Amino acid sequence: MSQIKDPSLADKGKMSYEWARDHMKILTNTVKRLKKSQPLRGLRIGICLHITKETSVLIMGAKQLGADVSACAANPLSTQDDIAAFLAENGVNIYAWQGQTPEEYDWSIEQMLSHKPQILTDDGSDSHSKVHGNSKFSSLKILGGTEETTTGVIRLKALEKQRKLKYPVISVNNAYTKHMFDNRYGTGQSTIDGYLRSMNLIFAGKRVVVAGYGWVGRGVTARCDGLGAKVYVTEIDPIKALEAHMDGYEVLPMNEAAKIGDIFVTATGQTGVIRKEHILKMKDGAVLGNVGHFDVEVDAKFLLNESKSVREVRPNLDECLLKNGKRVYLIGKGRIANLVAAEGHPPEVMAQSFSNQLLSMIYLAKNHKKIGKRVITVPQEIDKQIAIDALNAVDVRIDKPTAAQIKYAQTWA
Ligand SMILES: NC(=O)c1ccc[n+]([C@@H]2O[C@H](COP(=O)([O-])OP(=O)(O)OC[C@H]3O[C@@H](n4cnc5c(N)ncnc54)[C@H](O)[C@@H]3O)[C@@H](O)[C@H]2O)c1
Repeated sequence: MSQIKDPSLADKGKMSYEWARDHMKILTNTVKRLKKSQPLRGLRIGICLHITKETSVLIMGAKQLGADVSACAANPLSTQDDIAAFLAENGVNIYAWQGQTPEEYDWSIEQMLSHKPQILTDDGSDSHSKVHGNSKFSSLKILGGTEETTTGVIRLKALEKQRKLKYPVISVNNAYTKHMFDNRYGTGQSTIDGYLRSMNLIFAGKRVVVAGYGWVGRGVTARCDGLGAKVYVTEIDPIKALEAHMDGYEVLPMNEAAKIGDIFVTATGQTGVIRKEHILKMKDGAVLGNVGHFDVEVDAKFLLNESKSVREVRPNLDECLLKNGKRVYLIGKGRIANLVAAEGHPPEVMAQSFSNQLLSMIYLAKNHKKIGKRVITVPQEIDKQIAIDALNAVDVRIDKPTAAQIKYAQTWA
């Protein structure tokens, strides 16, 4: 039972799956190691993640460890239809296609939940939020959940704070081997990919404004810098702003950056970062996009509904002719540009994130009672093991501390 765009794309999806699988050795080696013990045997797992080739490697891995998997997308525009077809052909109950309406997106999450998952894996917490906010799902017996991204963790922590969290959740995002690499290097590279595919303009010499200097923002600024752009940063946190300044970027308020920028990237996880008053100050030809989780960072409603005219001049690039006569370009309707206009993160970095996901699912299956209704981080031993596996995968060796060094590190004198 699945709803996808086109089952005939399954063969193409299989090739994409194999390409990703062959570049996700950390994950596939973990699956090989655990296959005999079947740690997820008989468990129903619900997946609400971007349906990409990398996610298919996680899903097929969970199946090989014994799980019964149902899946839906974590964004209406991020599904790779060939991958959805491949997963449907391989026994996954999947409800996902590219270009869903908000209603179809919502329906798909509900279909995934109708398979009564015992472990729920999310990216952004739309499915966790539905389980908590919709009485239709109050009878679900969820043992535990995982969460992939910063924005989702913020939502779950808010539930925990109000004592409304119904089951333990592992914040995969907060593992070092996730956010330091996926958010920074993964988003850094795939943001450039998304911007290039949609606009194909040169970065060198352009003034690029990056809003937010967190993990994602740092990755994006570094890559824009590497391409020869003049990078400007906006922040609200004085420590992050100082870091951006000392990293060599010009830090300034959005009100001023709006007048200067040729290209804008929002990466804050906050709402209303680029608003109407900023857009009206922008230069003719400015390109706007967002790589934060939700489409709330750039005022896309103003651009798409209040412009004199809007036309899609290239795939995923809308030209918005403002009433002041200037043209402002919006990538992917303000939705997560690296997934909507490109393919998301490369497989090597997702191998780390999804090893955290898979090992967290197994940890929850064994330890859910012990954890209680809390949001916890990925246990340190898992995080460290993934770093060791990742180093081994690229054949990088490190030193071991000597006995004298261990002793030195433990003495107060
Ligand atoms: N596109 C992707 O593939 C991808 C990958 C990982 C995370 N994310 C998402 O990206 C967003 C950022 O994640 P992160 O891990 O970098 O978070 P983070 O908390 O490390 O960084 C966010 C930064 O934005 C700053 N900020 C908040 N409001 C701001 C404002 N109004 N103006 C300027 N700066 C502001 C914060 O001070 C902080 O430094 C989240 O929504 C996260 O879920 C996207």
